Parts: sequence; C-alpha cells; structure tokens
Amino acid sequence: MAAAPAVRFPVYGIVRMLGVAAVAAIIFWAIYFRGGMTLSSSVEDKLLLFNVHPVLMVIGLVALNGEALLAYKTMPGTKKLKKLVHLALQFLAMLLSLTGLWAVWKFHDERQIDHLYTLHSWLGLSCIIFFSLQVLLLLTIKIESLQWATGFWTFWYPGGSRSGRAFLLPWHVFFGVFIYVLAIATSVTGLLEKSIFMQSAKMIGRFSTEAILMNSVGMLLVLLSTLVMLAIVSPGTSRIDTYRGSSE
Ligand code: HEM
Repeated sequence: MAAAPAVRFPVYGIVRMLGVAAVAAIIFWAIYFRGGMTLSSSVEDKLLLFNVHPVLMVIGLVALNGEALLAYKTMPGTKKLKKLVHLALQFLAMLLSLTGLWAVWKFHDERQIDHLYTLHSWLGLSCIIFFSLQVLLLLTIKIESLQWATGFWTFWYPGGSRSGRAFLLPWHVFFGVFIYVLAIATSVTGLLEKSIFMQSAKMIGRFSTEAILMNSVGMLLVLLSTLVMLAIVSPGTSRIDTYRGSSE
C-alpha cells in the first residue's frame, strides 16, 4: 500500500484556526443576520430558538469533535492525559449536540412543523445516535478501567479486555472518522437547506451577503474536514505512534 502523504506545513495550527473561524462565522451569522439565540420559547423568540441549533452543532460535532480526533497528535503529555482530553472533548461535544437537537426539535413542535422529513434530519439523527453510542461506549470502558464498575466490557468481550481493546482500536478510529465526515455532510446540507428555505420565503436574495456567508461557511467546513483528514493520515510527528500503537 502507498505511504500516507507527509505534511510539510503546520497542519494542526491551520486546523485550529479554521475551526475557530468556522465557529466565529456561524455565531456571527446567528447574531448579526438572524437576531441572536435563546433557549426560551416565547412567541416572538421562536426563530431565536432555532438559531441555537446550527451554532451548537458546529461547535460540538465539528470543532470540538475535530480537536478530539487530533488530540493524540496535538496534545503534549502522557498517553493517559491524551486519552482523558480526547474523552472529555467528545463528552462535551455530545452534551452540546444533544442540546442543539433539543432546540430544533422544540422549535418544530412549537411551530407545528413535521419532524424528520428531510435528508438533513435523517443524516443528523444518524450522526447524533452514532456519536453518542461511541462516546458512551468509551466512557464505559474508561469507568471499567478505573474499576468503578465491572462486567459490561468483559461480558461483551470475554477474550480479555486488553486483547479486546487492541482489536477494537482500529474500528474505533474508523468510526470516529466516519462520524466526523457525517457531521460535515449534515452541517453542509443544513446550511444549504436553511438558505434555500429563506430564499423561497423571499427573506434573503440569492446573492445577498447572508446567502454568500452561508455558502462560505459550508466551504470552510469542507476545507476544515479535508485538513483534519490529512492531519489524521499523515505521519506528522512522533506523537502519531501513540495513536497507532495504543491498545489501552
Ligand atoms: C452535525 C450537525 C447537525 C446535526 C447532527 C443536525 C441534526 C438535525 C436534526 C436531527 C434535525 C431534525 C429536527 C426535527 O425533525 O425536529 C435538524 C433540523 C434542521 N437543521 Fe440541523 N443539524 C446539524 C447542523 C445544522 C446546521 C449547521 C444547520 C444550518 C443552518 C442546520 C439546519 C437545520 C434546519 C433548517 C432544520 C429544520 C428542517 C429539517 O428538519 O431538516 N442544521 N437538524
């Protein structure tokens, strides 16, 4: 098999900059163009309740999740610390994405809009379910390794937890990347859908500043995910060995 491309530019720094830029752009869009965000649901606030959704999804499933995927390569310190940061970032991302889902679900209920009728919503629900399952499984393993609880892991993988984990690690990495790509596809379809909804309702023009900003955020997310993939596959620093070799 051909070797992975060696990166000769500061890919981790660029990934972090693009992640911050994507979060800043979606917050700017929600506040400047859409009037802000709220979790309350008074009559005039309903669109503000919707705005919470894209912002929390991009922060959680795109920015924090991307950082979590790269934590093994970007973080200094022991393997234990890297694992802890990886898990903590993913746990936070899960909480934010569940809150973002709750906001859009409540928005649909209050406006009596059907649930789950679009491709975006199907992709999104699959993404949140896979992501939450992955995080909860990781948490269970972590708790068991601290011996706070026993049984679940060894029940499902009776061959011994160490060899079980060594077998599962490549699958965990694969599913992590798969879920991240799914989050990007979901966010891009969400931006497209929202822009087309607003254009059809004559709220914004095809070439309005807002429409161009929304398209640009989508392009930014695609660029960000491309560099995250490159950072994952490239043999950048010696820290990659901990990513490949760890079976704990
Ligand atoms: C990974 C990120 C995202 C996930 C997992 C996600 C998930 C979902 C889900 C499950 C629904 C269905 C809610 C219901 O039926 O009650 C939904 C609705 C919606 N989302 Fe997202 N979303 C994400 C990002 C975004 C982004 C960035 C936007 C951009 C504005 C967006 C715009 C919308 C819109 C307009 C709806 C209502 C229409 C529909 O049901 O498709 N979403 N989202």
